[in-house]
Amino acid sequence: MILIQEHPLVGQLVNAIGAEHVLRAPDLMAAYVVDWTGRYCGDALCVVRPGTVEQVSSILHTCNIAGVGVVPQGGNTGLVGGSVPAPGSGAVVLSLTRLNSMGPVDPVTGQVSVGAGVTLAALNAHAKAAGWVFGVDLAARDSATIGGMVATNAGGIHVVGNGMMRKQVLGIEAVLATGEVIRSMSGLAKNNTGYDLTQLLCGSEGTLGVITEVSLQLIRPRDTELIIAGCDSVEAALMIASRFAGRLAAAEIMDRGGIDSVSRVTGITVPFPTPFHVLVEVTGGVSADSLEDLEHVTLAMDARDRENYWALRERITEAMAVECTGVSHKLDISVPLADLDTVYREITTYLDQPGVRDVVLFGHLMDGNFHVFFTTDTDGSHEEALDIAVLELVAAHGGSISAEHGVGHMKADHLHLSRSAGEISAMRGIKAALDPKGILNPGVLFTH
Ligand code: FAD
Ligand code: LAC
Ligand code: ZN
Repeated sequence: MILIQEHPLVGQLVNAIGAEHVLRAPDLMAAYVVDWTGRYCGDALCVVRPGTVEQVSSILHTCNIAGVGVVPQGGNTGLVGGSVPAPGSGAVVLSLTRLNSMGPVDPVTGQVSVGAGVTLAALNAHAKAAGWVFGVDLAARDSATIGGMVATNAGGIHVVGNGMMRKQVLGIEAVLATGEVIRSMSGLAKNNTGYDLTQLLCGSEGTLGVITEVSLQLIRPRDTELIIAGCDSVEAALMIASRFAGRLAAAEIMDRGGIDSVSRVTGITVPFPTPFHVLVEVTGGVSADSLEDLEHVTLAMDARDRENYWALRERITEAMAVECTGVSHKLDISVPLADLDTVYREITTYLDQPGVRDVVLFGHLMDGNFHVFFTTDTDGSHEEALDIAVLELVAAHGGSISAEHGVGHMKADHLHLSRSAGEISAMRGIKAALDPKGILNPGVLFTH
C-alpha cells in the first residue's frame, strides 16, 4: 500500500505551489473533508491552497495527467455534499479561499471583478463602501465564497427582486481540467460570439471547470419596508405577498417548527401565535390600508426590528444545527406556486411517521422554494427512501428536486426526477468534452 506521504503526485503539487500550501496531516485536512451538515465526510490525498490562477492551472494539469480527482472548494457551506470528496476517493481538495483579491468598483457601471475566494460578506462591504450593493444575499454570507456561489448558482433571499447568482455574473475566469485558462472578463453587455461559457459554468458545481475570478454587476441600494405577518396556511401567505407583486425585494415563509427553534436559540420573541409567519420586504412604501384587513401583521420600525425579524428566518438552519441531534436531511425543492400549499401538506403528512423528527419547512415563498429539513436517528436505506419519496412527490407536481443548493453527491442518483434522458445525455456530453478524464468533482451531478 502506498502511504499518502509517498504518493508521487503530492511531491509534484508541492513543487507547483510550495509545501506550505499542500496540507497532508489529517488534523489539518479535517475541516476540508466534512461538509457543513456533517452528513458528508470523505478523505483526501491532500488539500491544496493555491494563491494564483497560474497555480490552479498547474495543479489541474498535474492532476489530469495523473488521472486523480479534484474537488473544488470555497467556503464549504454547500448543503448537498458537493464540496467534499467521497470516502475512499483519494481526491485532491482544491481550496480557492486564497484567491481573495477585489478590484475597484467601476463608478459608472457598478461592475467589479473579484477572486473566487472572496466571501459574500467581504464583497458586500466592498460594494457598500462604493455606494452599491450586491443583488444576492444569503445567511452563510460570512463563509460562502463568490466562486462557490457561482458554481452552485446560489439563490438566497432576494431572488424575487434580483434573480439568482447567474443574473449578476458578467464574466468568468476559469481553469479547465487540462489546466487551460479561459477568460471572459471584459464586462461586455453584448457578445454573441457562440456558446456562452460563462453561463455554462454557473451552476456547474465544480464539474466543468474551476472558477478563479468573476466579473459581477452590482446594483444601487433601494429603500424598503419590512413586514412580518402571521397566517394559517401557505395559501394565505401567498395571498399576503402577492398583494405587493412587482415591488417585492424578498418574500419568505417560516412554519412553526423553524421559527420556534430560532426563538429558543436566540431569545428573539416570535411575533404571532399562528402556524406560519411570512416576511415581506417591499420597495415603494407600504400604505396602512394595504394591511388593515390582516389580523396579525406589523412593520419593522427600526434597524433592530429588521435584524430580529430577519434573524427569525435566516437563522433557522443554524438553530436546527444547534438543537437537533441525529442525521440531518436537508432537501431543497421548488414547485409551481399554484401547487405550493398542496405540496406543503403532502410533504408534512408524509413525514409524520415514526423515526422522523424535527420536521421544518421554510423558504423562499414567491420562488416556490421550500427547504424541507428533518432528522433521523440513522442514515440507512430506509432514511434514504424518505428523501426519495419527498423528491418523487415534488417531481409528480412538476417541481425541481434542487431549487438552489444543487445536486452534489446527495441527489446525483435522482437527477432523472427533474431532467429527461435527453437532457442528461446532453449534459454528460458537455462534461465529457470539457473533462474527458472525469477528474473534476467525481460523483457530483452524475453518479458514474
Ligand atoms: P462550497 O460549499 O465550498 O462548494 C459548493 C459547490 O461549488 C461544490 O460543488 C464545489 O465543488 C463548487 N465550488 C466551490 N468553489 C468553486 C470554484 N471556485 N470553482 C468551481 N467550483 C467551485 N444556498 C442558497 O442558494 N441560498 C441560500 O439562501 C442559502 N442559505 C444558506 C444558509 C446557511 C446557514 C448555509 C450553511 C448554507 C446556505 N446555502 C444557501 C448553501 C451555500 O451557502 C451555497 O450553496 C453557497 O453558494 C456555497 O458557497 P461555498 O463557497 O461555501 O461553496
Ligand atoms: C436558506 C438556505 C437553507 O434559505 O438555503 O436559509
Ligand atoms: Zn434557501
